[in-house]
Amino acid sequence: MKTSEILAEAHDLLDDTIQLRRRIHRHPEVGLALPRTQATVLEALDGLGLTVETGRRTTSVVARLAGARPGPTILLRADMDALPMREETGLPFASEVEGAMHACGHDAHVAMLVGAARLLARRRATLGGAVLFMFQPGEEGYHGARVMLEEGLLDGAAPPAGAFALHVTHRHAAGVVATRPGPTMASGDTIQIVVRGRGGHASAPHDCLDPVPVACEIVQAFQTLVTRRVNVFDPAVLTIARIEAGTTRNVIPETASLLGTVRTVSEATRERVLEGVRRVAEGVAAAHGAEVGIELIRGYPVTVNDADFAGFVLDTAGALLGPERAHAMSHPVMGSEDFSYVLQRVPGAMANLGTRPENGPVFPNHSNRMLVNESALATGIAMHVAVALRFLARAGAREA
Ligand code: NI
Repeated sequence: MKTSEILAEAHDLLDDTIQLRRRIHRHPEVGLALPRTQATVLEALDGLGLTVETGRRTTSVVARLAGARPGPTILLRADMDALPMREETGLPFASEVEGAMHACGHDAHVAMLVGAARLLARRRATLGGAVLFMFQPGEEGYHGARVMLEEGLLDGAAPPAGAFALHVTHRHAAGVVATRPGPTMASGDTIQIVVRGRGGHASAPHDCLDPVPVACEIVQAFQTLVTRRVNVFDPAVLTIARIEAGTTRNVIPETASLLGTVRTVSEATRERVLEGVRRVAEGVAAAHGAEVGIELIRGYPVTVNDADFAGFVLDTAGALLGPERAHAMSHPVMGSEDFSYVLQRVPGAMANLGTRPENGPVFPNHSNRMLVNESALATGIAMHVAVALRFLARAGAREA
């Protein structure tokens, strides 16, 4: 594999890739139903000679490139959905859909994976094995990857032996690739709690059962739960982000409600904290004679990179981009990602691609002013291609 050739070909595709990304950026779609984005992907893949299937319960696209010789299958993934928020970037290609914005760079992910499909399709005659391109809706909380697994993404005659995904980030300079072995992103679960007391006059709390101090005590006790019951080397974040109670100064309300999130980087700590949340909330409420309703809504599992595959990705990035642009992350980040469902079944890795703008202020992913440094899209295409080619070549060498 000549890395310089891959980079040069990816650069040749940069203009087209930017145009495709901007086209998707103008028309963001949210959730599991992204018909316009799906149509754009299908059009972009047309003529490449891939076997294309679309989802039944979602607007997913699964495209398969079969090489000339038999061999393993590698899965490459791009998520396609946007966020329900108003764009304030002022870009000439800003969102034309009120209340929707590609603020997590999934438009860039789609465009890069289409570019990779083009470059890999050109090499079909030399490929031993297959490449499965996974274009998924509903990453932003809709479990889109899980739906695709339920619809048989990994169940074909030649299930993937490796899986790779890239996510753009402001945390790194444009064109840097970063990943790590083991946990790389957190689990993300939701806590909903309602404390039930008895309302009445604020001047006579003894005639009522005030849920507000009970709710406050639960919030404080959660922080003690995290610092006293969780191993500091296997951390958890527990944030109550919203408290709601009452209507005015002289009425004790009937209820107080809490809404928050739990993040962990191991399934063991995840279970320990969720169990603790229930115990602490019930215990504190019981101590004051109040009742509590607790709902724990499970989000995405911990995203765990296969150690060998993550090392292979860093090695590939070093060979392709030079060691100074291949970063081993020192720790996971506490965001969550539903590629975790794929990585539970297939050894693989998720990596970050730096897309920080060179000049001016930096706005993070999910900001209404988030910007992508589009020059890095060529690096992303080249990474997908290099990971796929090296993975298939490596497997071929092992068999020989
Ligand atoms: Ni994202």
